[in-house]
Amino acid sequence: MNTPQPSSQSNSGLFRGLARVLPFAGSDSVRLVIGMAIALVSSGFALGIPIALEALVDGPLSGNDPSLVWPAVGVIALLGLFEALFVYLRRVTVLTPGTRIDSRIRNAIYDHLQNLPVAFHDKWQSGQLLSRAHTDVSLIRRWVSFGLIMLVANAIAIVMGVAILFTWSPVLALVFLVCSIPMFVFGSRFRSRFAGLSRAAQDQWGDVATAVEESVHGIRVLRSFGRGSDSLERFAEQASKGKHLEVVKGRARATLGFWLVWIPDLALAACLLTGVWLASEGDLTTGQIFAFFATAAVLAGPIESIGYLLALTLEAHSGINRIFDILDEKNGIVDPESPTTPKNHSGSLIFENVHFSHDSAQPGTPDLLDGINLEIRPGETMALVGVTGSGKTILTALPGRLYDVTAGRILLDGVDIREFDLVTLRTRVAMAFEDATLFSDSVRNNVLLGRHDLRDATRAESDAVLNQALSIAEAEFVFDLPEGADTVIGEQGLSLSGGQRQRLALARAIAAAPEVLVLDDPLSALDVETEARVEAALRKVLATTTALVVAHRPSTVMLADRVALLDNGVIAAVGTHSELLATSDRYRHVISSLDADGKFISTEVTA
Ligand SMILES: Nc1ncnc2c1ncn2[C@@H]1O[C@H](COP(=O)(O)OP(=O)(O)O)[C@@H](O)[C@H]1O
Ligand SMILES: [Mg+2]
Repeated sequence: MNTPQPSSQSNSGLFRGLARVLPFAGSDSVRLVIGMAIALVSSGFALGIPIALEALVDGPLSGNDPSLVWPAVGVIALLGLFEALFVYLRRVTVLTPGTRIDSRIRNAIYDHLQNLPVAFHDKWQSGQLLSRAHTDVSLIRRWVSFGLIMLVANAIAIVMGVAILFTWSPVLALVFLVCSIPMFVFGSRFRSRFAGLSRAAQDQWGDVATAVEESVHGIRVLRSFGRGSDSLERFAEQASKGKHLEVVKGRARATLGFWLVWIPDLALAACLLTGVWLASEGDLTTGQIFAFFATAAVLAGPIESIGYLLALTLEAHSGINRIFDILDEKNGIVDPESPTTPKNHSGSLIFENVHFSHDSAQPGTPDLLDGINLEIRPGETMALVGVTGSGKTILTALPGRLYDVTAGRILLDGVDIREFDLVTLRTRVAMAFEDATLFSDSVRNNVLLGRHDLRDATRAESDAVLNQALSIAEAEFVFDLPEGADTVIGEQGLSLSGGQRQRLALARAIAAAPEVLVLDDPLSALDVETEARVEAALRKVLATTTALVVAHRPSTVMLADRVALLDNGVIAAVGTHSELLATSDRYRHVISSLDADGKFISTEVTA
């Protein structure tokens, strides 16, 4: 559950990393820049207050003209009002860009996940994908619409403020700057420590999401084996790791916050000492000292906020890295540049010296599929037999390009399948798997999933296809559902039995009316009687369709014209069932392991 993700962990430099969200901002970047400008103006108003104060102290308050007090007070109140108004304006301005960037990134991730090959999804935990598409995207939204803007605006305000300090008194400003140097030391130390922490925490929350996802998904198994409390323990362990990392992060933030408050105050104390001395020398007026400290007080806010904003920025950076771990994944299974459309549609399927190995395979070990040569003639039904783990499922996933061969080629109607565009290929080759996935949708939409052409068809037309497929797959139970074929079946069809789900998945493959039908033991969850009926009906479909059928049961083998034995990564024998029984020891051995009661072999051998 806790395996590290095979991510590229693209740890780009901070600025280059952050800049990678820019393309998602599009025209909204204009609004973001306006937001920054507004934020700057509001800091400008805040910095204006000390200037008014100086005028007040050195002017009316020094006794020259008491009548000027009220206008000065009015100016200060007005500056405060404008500051508040511009803070409000900034918030309103950046509201929509943040949410729009958020949804663009989410869509890009979803789109990319849909396109990435099955091999990618084999490697990645769903919780990691979920947390990246969710939590990390939210982090980025907060950073774009708040962190980024305030970081830029506050940094500029600090520079402006320090410049103003210099106009009041270069000596005091210099003292202030020198005394502030330790802040940069603590800041950069924080940066390197916090970057690693935030990545670790975000990865950990991904593992927590995986733990939740797996236990919800496997709730029946966990319940039935009384493993609910174990699963809770594992979850609690994951969550407590996450909690620990958050505490460590919080502590790091608090420590930086401590220095960001205390160091400027220390600097001010040093300035006060120098200021008093300068005033006694007559180099500085009371008003100037007053204004200097008022400006420094205004700066305290932005300086303190830098710690929080820096943390937010670093979190957004690791969020961006985590998202680009996904977006940077190359999709190797793509349409060819110039797809071919072969003239004949006979449906012959030929494997030519096909190799396949998972990229996680040890180098030096033989490939899982180590040179498959197999010809399935047009209209022929070929059963595929092999022990568990021999690679049957992988082999059946190859003709539809769920995985690509690592060497060799597969020909459909004499054309390398990589020369078809994927949509064409996948309408020609339909699959049904042992593990039948159904979507939260009506039975009708689930079964007609592969029929893009029926999207604009009349109800009668689609009903004809639907009913025929349901009938062949012995899935007439559908008509007893509350709303018949329009009943929405639960998430992943959980409310249906395994056998019912398999029959719908089979109906889906049949409804697609493919040239080549690939069935990975889609009858395994059926009772013997239903299986026999489905097989009888399938025989009719299979008579006209080229088919490759993985058989875990002897009765499925009986559907086939010929049988291929997959053994040690190669097709060890091909022939009719009785031929193989007569000639291949290995076949007899594999078949007997499938045929628990031995009836099947004895009747055939004696026949
Ligand atoms: N992502 C993967 N990385 C490495 N090996 C894998 C991966 N997925 C499956 N395998 C291995 O590939 C082998 C073939 O699997 P499969 O085609 O499902 O066999 P079958 O359907 O014949 O039982 C199995 O031994 C399995 O452990
Ligand atoms: Mg299998």
